[in-house]
Amino acid sequence: MVLGIETSCDETGIGIVRGSELLADAIASSVAEHARFGGVVPEVASRAHLQAMIPTVHRACADAGVSLADIDAIAVTAGPGLAGALLVGVAAAKAYALALDKPLYGVNHLSAHVAVDLLENGPLEEACIALLVSGGHSSILQVPRVGGEEIVELGATLDDAAGEAFDKVARLLGLGFPGGPLIDRAAREGDPAAITFPRGLTGAHDPAFAFSFSGLKTAVARWVEARQRQGEPVSVNDVAASFQEAVVDVLTAKAVRAAREQGVDYLLLGGGVAANSRLRALAAERCEKAGLRLRVPRPGLCTDNGAMVAALGAQLVMHGASASRLDIGADSALPITDVLV
Ligand code: KG4
Ligand code: ZN
Repeated sequence: MVLGIETSCDETGIGIVRGSELLADAIASSVAEHARFGGVVPEVASRAHLQAMIPTVHRACADAGVSLADIDAIAVTAGPGLAGALLVGVAAAKAYALALDKPLYGVNHLSAHVAVDLLENGPLEEACIALLVSGGHSSILQVPRVGGEEIVELGATLDDAAGEAFDKVARLLGLGFPGGPLIDRAAREGDPAAITFPRGLTGAHDPAFAFSFSGLKTAVARWVEARQRQGEPVSVNDVAASFQEAVVDVLTAKAVRAAREQGVDYLLLGGGVAANSRLRALAAERCEKAGLRLRVPRPGLCTDNGAMVAALGAQLVMHGASASRLDIGADSALPITDVLV
């Protein structure tokens, strides 16, 4: 039974997992405190983690009906993320590991976004391609074993992450923060074919598995400005739907292509943007056409949470990985390939 601690951004997430069974997923979010700044303020997030840590651990134990003494190992996000926020989680994890005399596993937040799928969709005994799309990262990964220590990055964004593009476009449309869920909602009332926005890096000579979203963000800004200059109305819903379509079109096309080229049967989606309803629908459609099986956790497990950290920790324990030292640090730029530190 593994307790997972997640504090890389603005959610204090505490999860408890037994093997690949989810027992508790307690979250305290400081998102409301950041909303008026239009983005996460690192110091505010760190302070909020500190205040939420112990009550959220207790809530997770109560939800799971276990006591801390029942826990066999502590897993914690060691990176990537906001340095100060990560430090709160890493310090707490070390304290629990030391006090309970249990092993500590410092894990990669991005791998945890992939491993959480096991809690929802059960074991996966084969290699897969994972499309990891969050607020800070967008990558296509070759994953020999979900929850394993090897990950190969086939491509990543060259500029903005997909979630970052959602957040920036939401801001320029005046929708608020965080933008992903708000664009998702507005897009349901809009026409995705109303405006043809550019599909970045999809030319014949462009890298097959790399992404670029900053040009798209600029194109949306220019389109809106031009309309406003001419005094024409801007349909926020149409812009949201057309922008969203441009993002998910490129994401799914490249991920499906990677899966076919690598000869795997499974495509897995992870990260906050994987909560997007249109991404999920288009991925399902394209996987079916390509003869691929799609694995995607429920939206609540796509966005940051502690269960994903516990899920990855439990996989590492079950496969005999050696525990982390008690003097590990938090690494805000931890590479995606460093699954365990
Ligand atoms: O994985 P995550 O919770 O945190 C990071 O590791 O970054 O991802 C957060 C990102 C934010 O940019 C947020 O706007 C986006 O995921 N997001 C969404 C949706 N829900 C969250 N983007 C599009 N559609 C959604 N429904
Ligand atoms: Zn995340």
